[in-house]
Amino acid sequence: MCHDTTGTYKKAPTKAGWPDKGVDLKDVAEKVGHSSRRSCGRCHFNGGGGDAIKHADLAGNLLKPDPNCDIHMGGLDFSCTQCHTTMRHRIAGSSSSVAAVEGVVRCADCHSDRPHLGNSLLDHHLNMHCSTIDCNTCHSPVYAKCSPTKIWWDWSKAGDKNRKPKMIKLGNSKALPDYHVKKGEFKWGRAVKPDYAWFNGKTKRIILGDSVDMRADVIQLTSPVGLRADPSARITPFKIMKGMQAFDARHHTLLIPHLFPRDSKDTTAYWKNYDWDKSFADGMQAAKLPYSGEWQWKETWTYWRVEHEVMPASMALSCVQCHSSLGEEKTCNRCHQDNRHINFKELAHKTTDFTFLKDKRDDVEQLQHSSDYIDFKALGYKGDPIIYGGRFKKLPLGALPQG
Ligand code: HEC
Ligand code: HEC
Ligand code: HEC
Ligand code: HEC
Ligand code: HEC
Ligand code: HEC
Repeated sequence: MCHDTTGTYKKAPTKAGWPDKGVDLKDVAEKVGHSSRRSCGRCHFNGGGGDAIKHADLAGNLLKPDPNCDIHMGGLDFSCTQCHTTMRHRIAGSSSSVAAVEGVVRCADCHSDRPHLGNSLLDHHLNMHCSTIDCNTCHSPVYAKCSPTKIWWDWSKAGDKNRKPKMIKLGNSKALPDYHVKKGEFKWGRAVKPDYAWFNGKTKRIILGDSVDMRADVIQLTSPVGLRADPSARITPFKIMKGMQAFDARHHTLLIPHLFPRDSKDTTAYWKNYDWDKSFADGMQAAKLPYSGEWQWKETWTYWRVEHEVMPASMALSCVQCHSSLGEEKTCNRCHQDNRHINFKELAHKTTDFTFLKDKRDDVEQLQHSSDYIDFKALGYKGDPIIYGGRFKKLPLGALPQG
């Protein structure tokens, strides 16, 4: 899959990784070459069963991305492995759902932890922010920029053979269905503002067979670990994939359905027989886990970190999009002497130019002029840190005039 350059190699859906019978293996073997966005993307653009389902920021549009949607793979034509460097087939980069065993990839590997080079009066503060704010909070302020991603997937609604899917059109993208009889009900999002959470690189996970707290409104299958008081945690952007999935009502474990029919005689596959009970019994048996015969639908969330789709530097979030305190009459001169040679207001009031998203979402105006891009209170601050102080210190320092 990784070294195929013909685009014809594929796996048979029911053969646990073995190639499809129709593949001309000799032709493929004769034409192996370097991996590419296309060969890695054959799997990764389709995580979750189709283009842009699971990840917020890995989709087929990355074959030929608009530089505004991904400056590395668009403007600079990066391959996946320029960032995900490999040694003896160990591909660096940790995922949001599986523990990293092959090394991490960080923006700072190439850009350093102080990536703002000092040509602008904002660079000092931008570099200071890097110890609290993940790069992509500022550099990827919306996800699924160029093609919609699935944000809601309700399995409990599957099986209604009379329901006609409505086609949903977001911006200028091709219309997508809100229903599939085999899979249930969906919602799609495009150029979505991420959810933000403190993240220190560790993830809490529910593993198959774990029993969960069924009283909770939402079962978080994965969630980022981190606290404001943890110096290694940064404010990090996520897509939260929400949906409804089935749990064993007695054992409180996530149920695994048998979906794809093994052959024409299969009597338990959901996608053939539309009988959840049989499908759970078969799936759980295959997974060697107990099944009580009773199930309950619960809302589930998984967190997917926004790692790709970095926009050009000129589109990064600017000061006033987070700090409402800099959007008023007083700006940098809350703390710095105003010597009249520098236009503080011009520096502080500049907002990100999101107008290129005009054909992608309806409320670009609102996004453009938002001054509470991240909700300071939800992240544990009393309010704007310029007024109320940062997590470890408070400015202006004592001697400076307040207000
Ligand atoms: C045959 C399918 C397939 C191909 C081709 C493929 N991957 Fe993966 N990759 C996977 C699966 C499956 C996972 C585990 C994902 C999960 O559990 O969410 C994964 C995980 C990863 C991870 C996360 C780290 C980890 O260990 O979980 C990275 C990074 C990654 N792949 C990069 C690449 C790159 C770069 C290429 C191209 C050289 C590539 N992959 C090609 C299927 C593939
Ligand atoms: C500009 C650098 C860059 C490029 C190019 C890039 N990635 Fe990544 N990718 C990252 C970073 C950074 C992470 C976070 C890894 C970590 O924390 O260790 C990541 C994470 C991932 C993950 C894990 C996702 C998750 O959260 O579960 C996968 C899978 C992945 N990349 C696949 C790809 C594929 C496939 C391509 C090519 C189409 C690609 N990447 C191109 C930088 C890049
Ligand atoms: C493998 C090295 C590598 C990794 C990893 C990498 N970058 Fe880059 N990045 C580059 C290079 C090279 C350029 C082009 C030269 C430049 O502008 O510095 C670039 C350009 C950029 C730019 C555009 C600058 C402009 O002029 O518009 C931004 C912003 C950026 N990177 C941010 C990031 C972020 C955020 C991450 C992590 C998600 C990241 N980079 C990961 C190598 C990398
Ligand atoms: C608080 C928001 C913020 C954070 C956090 C942030 N950046 Fe930036 N970055 C910006 C802005 C705004 C610019 C445009 C600078 C300007 O106009 O002077 C920029 C510019 C850049 C550039 C272009 C070079 C330059 O000096 O202008 C690169 C490369 C870059 N950032 C990479 C990163 C990386 C890598 C990280 C994480 C280690 C990061 N940034 C964290 C807001 C941020
Ligand atoms: C993504 C949102 C975001 C953006 C964009 C942003 N900031 Fe901040 N800023 C924060 C957060 C969060 C803190 C608190 C950091 C901490 O806890 O130490 C902060 C803290 C500060 C502080 C220090 C307050 C203190 O007590 O330590 C100053 C000064 C500041 N920002 C100025 C700026 C300037 C100037 C810009 C534009 C170049 C900017 N910020 C852009 C989120 C942002
Ligand atoms: C809440 C107070 C506060 C605000 C508001 C603030 N700064 Fe600062 N700034 C500081 C402090 C304190 C330092 C030096 C120490 C540090 O970074 O913690 C500093 C350092 C700087 C430096 C580096 C100076 C040097 O000698 O290296 C520059 C440049 C700068 N600020 C520009 C700005 C600009 C431009 C704005 C408005 C967009 C701004 N600051 C808003 C408090 C502030």
